[in-house]
Amino acid sequence: MADKPSLPLLSDSTVLVIGLGMIGGSLAAALKQRHACHRVLAWDRDRQSLAIALERGIIDSYPDSLELAVDEADILVLAVPILGIGSLLKELVGLEVDWSRKVITDVGSCKQIVLESARNAFGRLPENLVPGHPIAGSERSGVLAANPDLFEAHKVILTPTEQSAEKAINRVTGLWAACGADVLHMDVAHHDEVLAKTSHLPHLLAFSLVDTLAGEKDNQDIFRYAAGGFRDFTRIAASDPTMWHDVFQANRQAVLEALDAFREGLDTLYQAVSSGDSQTMRGIFTRARAAREHFTSMLENQAYLKPMTNSQLTYVAQPGGSVRGDIRVPGDKSISHRSIMLGALAQGVTEVDGFLEGEDALATLQAFRDMGVVIEGPHNGRVIIYGVGLYGLKQPAGPLYLGNAGTAMRLMAGLMAAQRFDVELTGDESLSKRPMGRVVDPLRDMGAEIETMPEGRPPLKIHGGRSLKGVSYPMPMASAQVKSCLLLAGLYAEGETSVTEPGVTRDHTERMLSGFGYPVAVEANHAALSGGGSLTATTIDIPADISSAAFFMVAASIAPDSDVLLKHVGINPTRTGVIDILRLMGADITLDNEQTVGGEPVADIRVRSAQLKGIEIPQELVPLAIDEFPVLFVAAACAEGKTLLRGAEELRVKESDRIQSMADGLQALGVDARPLPDGIEILGGDMGGATIDSHGDHRIAMAFAVAALRASDEIIIKDCSNVATSFPNFVELADSVGFRLKVIEKIRRD
Ligand code: S3P
Repeated sequence: MADKPSLPLLSDSTVLVIGLGMIGGSLAAALKQRHACHRVLAWDRDRQSLAIALERGIIDSYPDSLELAVDEADILVLAVPILGIGSLLKELVGLEVDWSRKVITDVGSCKQIVLESARNAFGRLPENLVPGHPIAGSERSGVLAANPDLFEAHKVILTPTEQSAEKAINRVTGLWAACGADVLHMDVAHHDEVLAKTSHLPHLLAFSLVDTLAGEKDNQDIFRYAAGGFRDFTRIAASDPTMWHDVFQANRQAVLEALDAFREGLDTLYQAVSSGDSQTMRGIFTRARAAREHFTSMLENQAYLKPMTNSQLTYVAQPGGSVRGDIRVPGDKSISHRSIMLGALAQGVTEVDGFLEGEDALATLQAFRDMGVVIEGPHNGRVIIYGVGLYGLKQPAGPLYLGNAGTAMRLMAGLMAAQRFDVELTGDESLSKRPMGRVVDPLRDMGAEIETMPEGRPPLKIHGGRSLKGVSYPMPMASAQVKSCLLLAGLYAEGETSVTEPGVTRDHTERMLSGFGYPVAVEANHAALSGGGSLTATTIDIPADISSAAFFMVAASIAPDSDVLLKHVGINPTRTGVIDILRLMGADITLDNEQTVGGEPVADIRVRSAQLKGIEIPQELVPLAIDEFPVLFVAAACAEGKTLLRGAEELRVKESDRIQSMADGLQALGVDARPLPDGIEILGGDMGGATIDSHGDHRIAMAFAVAALRASDEIIIKDCSNVATSFPNFVELADSVGFRLKVIEKIRRD
């Protein structure tokens, strides 16, 4: 049966569904309802099913014999139980029909056996055969359960063979696409392995559990009182026994392998329960819960807050307004990352409050879970970390995915370089473009072995088992990430590791190491420690992030009649550049309630409207306000006169090129903003409305939401999903104090 170039279009084709069970019936119904093809025919040994289907309008007709049905059909869909495929194909081969214009596909959940059956029947794999498997279903069976929307937004896996003709593949793809399905291709063996784990094993367990409990003496009570858990777990035990009997016969090997792995996991849990081993139980349950909550995003190689990252978010910011109220912005991102890292490597249990439940910090948390650390939470900012000691991390099963988080990648590069195992650090599109040579080069000087992509970009492949030596490193740029990376590597290095920076940068690593009882010598812009010590678990109270508070500081300064109180904000002197710069511009900022919490200074910050004026930003403040410049540029656009920033080339390698992204956006709003290689010159003036591209950079998106408070027209900000990396509740909080932000969500289906 050769594939002739004259296959009819789907709209001119007659589709024959052989086997009118739930799947076959649903396919027929979907095609009919969508008028996707010329005619839908069916064939089934059970004439009653055919009559019902005809009566319900699920099919157009059912010819008197299989031969007549096949003769009329252009596309044959074999929807019989999987062990019936072999004899059906043999029957088909014996028919007196012209195969040259026909395509054959099937819906079975094991694919290897379809190929074997086809080889047996045809003596080879025909060009017109394209095996398929819709990943959709229900525990209900039979044509009465047919559902025309069953495949809508579901995946259909095709496993074309090397012999499958392209036209036949396109035809089957079109068939499923017409039913609303997303079609993808997979290798046959891989399909059967994956399905054994994701579908066949869970069905086996459900059948077994129900049968075991049903056989017990007190089964009446068990079923009478079995509420949610039992019902949820065993729904699929009501599935078609014949179909599943066939699946376990057909995919025996892969199912047995999956069952072996499951038995091993079950044994571990059995041991843990019988010996009261809480740590193992907590480990299994917290890891499983996180995986279950986030598996969709993990599968898509995205960060972990599913509702945000599965969609394209656009902000629509209405112009004008005042900003008034008391708020607490989420926890500090830098400190959140470090709390997980040091907590994991400490001896004992570290309790953290105020943890930032944003994607960046969650990526770090997940990475340490992937290395065997038991971490409970986060729950309302509370995280409990069961430290494994400096040498207790385990090799993760795959690459550690760090999403958008540059801090996670750079700091972890230092830690990973000293482990006994190999590990790969990967990230999203933006992180994959960011320079890692700044940490990789000095780590190599310490003896690390790290492979990167060209120009030192991620992924980082870090080889384990190297012994590191302390270095004395004069840093070419002021970067807390580079400093922290080397200090963390230094925990494992022989001798002293010291760094000298060209300017003072945030010192959270040094402070937190001291909090964990690890001595660090700090003097101005020099920090040093010696390897060989250990960390002792502690409690950490993470203050609100001054980088997130900065958006409201500028908002309240530029919007008329504003008065906002930002509570419990971290005012570590290495982070307060934004306050100093705004005050130099004439902002009305007062600090109250100053105290030190867990080694970090905090205060309530009150900001009221003020007429700002342009300034030349002092060089020494640049590293102390490095993350706040996007919103400071908005302040400059609202100020009287010119603001000049120099010496800030680092802004070009943040989550986006922040000098260019901000200059483009401000110019679109009509502001005179002139980008410079290492800074920007902004002349304050009126702002109009525009559509702005945030380039997926959280701080650019939030900065333009602030700008709307002084714009004369609506600002539309595109690509805002990544706001969730640092400030998951930004829109709600902003709107609660007077912003008028709306979010438009487009679900990503690619
Ligand atoms: C950070 C350091 C800064 C900052 C980043 C967080 C940290 O980066 O921009 O958001 O937590 O150490 P650099 O070290 O690259 O300046």
